[in-house]
Amino acid sequence: MHILAIASAKGGVGKSTVASHLSGALAFKGAEVLLVDADPQGGSTCAVGAGVPQEHLAFTAQLLSGAQLATQRIGSMPGLRVVGARPDVDSLQLTFPQGHLRAHLERVTPVPDFVILDLAPSLEPLTLACLGDADGTLVVLTPTALTLRTLPTLLQELRHACPHASVEGLLINHLGAVGGTAKLVLRSVHERFGDWVFPVELPEDECIQRAMLEGHLVFWEDETSPSSRAFLRMADELLIRYPGHADPDEPISGVEARE
Ligand SMILES: Nc1ncnc2c1ncn2[C@@H]1O[C@H](COP(=O)(O)OP(=O)(O)OP(=O)(O)O)[C@@H](O)[C@H]1O
Ligand SMILES: [Mg+2]
Repeated sequence: MHILAIASAKGGVGKSTVASHLSGALAFKGAEVLLVDADPQGGSTCAVGAGVPQEHLAFTAQLLSGAQLATQRIGSMPGLRVVGARPDVDSLQLTFPQGHLRAHLERVTPVPDFVILDLAPSLEPLTLACLGDADGTLVVLTPTALTLRTLPTLLQELRHACPHASVEGLLINHLGAVGGTAKLVLRSVHERFGDWVFPVELPEDECIQRAMLEGHLVFWEDETSPSSRAFLRMADELLIRYPGHADPDEPISGVEARE
């Protein structure tokens, strides 16, 4: 089981988009995936069409109860399960001792190959508790001027919050990237953090927003679109890094394979 947290230095950069689509893409490639929505906004819960969970089934309520995590299967995607979130900003203040979340995840059956944690945009206690139990963190960033100011602080916080976890990569989402500023920021990110830059970038694609509104993933509609291909390549990259779960060369098959 590999626990991967999806984090960012600022909000609205695409964490929930990446968490939901990466989970779906890994499941599509044959891995057992558990998507855990640790942000009460419920972005990734909504993106996979899971609906708002009942109060006692929300992620934080389940962590508090101590019972075995109840997960929801996403019918249209074999291999994908979700623990959803419901709007309750107070839950961001919950603190859990190190190892609490991991212990819960280790009791989930069947054991997931990957757990993807969609985190809230700020380093609240709940976010830090999740980071502390992750094996790695994928940091999503957009190439905007603020990125260069906020990223070093986040990386410092990550080292502090989760000294055992590795930075899986800096994933560049081209959302809102315009002209020269974006190019300058990208060059600077590559110069300063080159080794950490994730080898797959996510292009801006308006299909993503439509799909999110409709509660499905982009490769439902068109698996050959630039963003669909990017998500599937991200999954391939993780399957190469953590082999044994599925075949990264699995061809992109037709819609009937997911129904
Ligand atoms: N590559 C992209 N192309 C087009 N739209 C995108 C892309 N990435 C994200 N979006 C859109 O940007 C918006 C913000 O994305 P998302 O909710 O994933 O960000 P977030 O980091 O999870 O936000 P928050 O910090 O509030 O949790 C959504 O409407 C999403 O559909
Ligand atoms: Mg989000």
